[in-house]
Amino acid sequence: MYDLEDSRYVVRGGRRLAGVVTVSGAKNSALKLMAASLLADGTSVLHNVPDIEDVRTMSDVLEYLGARVRFDSGDMTIDTSAVEPHAAPYELVQKMRASFQIMGPLVARFGRGRVAMPGGCNLGPRKIDFHLRGLEQLGAVVTSDHGFVEAAAAKLVGASIVPEYPSVGATENLLMASVLAEGVTVIDNAAREPEIVDLGKFLVSMGADVQGAGTSRIIVRGVAGMEPAEHTVIGDRIEAGTFLIAGALTGGDVEVDGISVHHLDMFLSKLRAMGVQVQEDHHKVRAWGDPHYYSATDVATLPHPGFRTDLQAQMMVLLSIARGASIVTENVFENRFGFVDELIRLGADIKVAGHHAVVNGGRSLTGAIVRCPDLRAGAALVLAGLVAEGRTEIRDVYHMDRGYERFEDKLSSLGADLERTGRSRIGSTPSTR
Ligand code: EPZ
Repeated sequence: MYDLEDSRYVVRGGRRLAGVVTVSGAKNSALKLMAASLLADGTSVLHNVPDIEDVRTMSDVLEYLGARVRFDSGDMTIDTSAVEPHAAPYELVQKMRASFQIMGPLVARFGRGRVAMPGGCNLGPRKIDFHLRGLEQLGAVVTSDHGFVEAAAAKLVGASIVPEYPSVGATENLLMASVLAEGVTVIDNAAREPEIVDLGKFLVSMGADVQGAGTSRIIVRGVAGMEPAEHTVIGDRIEAGTFLIAGALTGGDVEVDGISVHHLDMFLSKLRAMGVQVQEDHHKVRAWGDPHYYSATDVATLPHPGFRTDLQAQMMVLLSIARGASIVTENVFENRFGFVDELIRLGADIKVAGHHAVVNGGRSLTGAIVRCPDLRAGAALVLAGLVAEGRTEIRDVYHMDRGYERFEDKLSSLGADLERTGRSRIGSTPSTR
């Protein structure tokens, strides 16, 4: 599928980025909406679905279960009438942790689900204990064997669930598991991400009784059955933040639209604290400024509405050129500074100590060959290449195909000097399966 050696970006720095770019639908919502379609028998329709590798992988997972997925130009239909709760295989689950989100819907609708345990990832161990504990509280018997986790329950029963951490994935899985349970489920300490709100809206449109999605206390009253529904995916705020930093970084002027501005509140307040000019409208945001006048600011990643961990790497690049020293604290993942050594190769001055990184700003970056360790770090390295003097080559960028649709087209439309070699299956003719 990929020529691993050949998937790379070559960026030539020095261009000022300006213009308007429309973000795609949010990867981290679309994948769960696709999983949620399993809760009903029939054909659901999703709009504004990004054509990215992870969506293709989730389509493969659903088709493995017997669903029929048709996807073209952002519109997706998922016919679940022939779905059987087969075991989701390791090959698919290890490619994408989010595959585990089918567990809740499978147990809710079919009384059992069997999914390969997701492997670790470049961000550190990605556990599923909050998912499994919550399913047990809903009455499922959870077992594991041969690298698979199985959850089974003749009928799930509503319960009071308090995950010890507001896990996005666990909140989503347990929310989907509870909609067909007998009685009332209360999820306290729930994740509050906009993607949870999007999922809650879709579930309600399918006939679920969900209140409080987006707050830390979600109340679900189980219903007898769900119907297929139609839904439009929210804009991708991580993509939006990436392009806004590209504009600010290059002394340009970039406007992103197709986004709900309030999904970016903490991020925008940090840009402003650095001296970046920010203008907000309901569904679009503009950022511009002169990097010579940006100043340091501290960033601590936290569950929403805190600063989003998926924008931490991109922010590190902006802090590297701002005047002064910033402290970046990564509170969500064990190992999300893996890209720092690559950024140092480009001239950044960053010292990592555990969950903290001290960024000594005011640096001028210079182009080099670097390696992309994961999806968001890859985007950060491309951003660094935009301001590095000379040529920057970022290798292993197949990671980025997982979550950024037409990334090079969008950046080039803003004036970036960027070329891509090595093509994944994305960008070929849209899948019509
Ligand atoms: C989702 O991952 C996103 N992925 C991530 O985006 C995002 O960074 C993360 O939420 C945090 O906002 C998708 O939505 C597909 P978590 P998820 O469960 O659900 C620990 C991207 O680049 N934990 O909130 O896996 C876990 O190890 C990706 O788009 C447990 O210990 O995040 C991690 O340290 C990267 N036990 C922390 O919680 C559990 O049962 C946050 O995980 C579950 C999680």
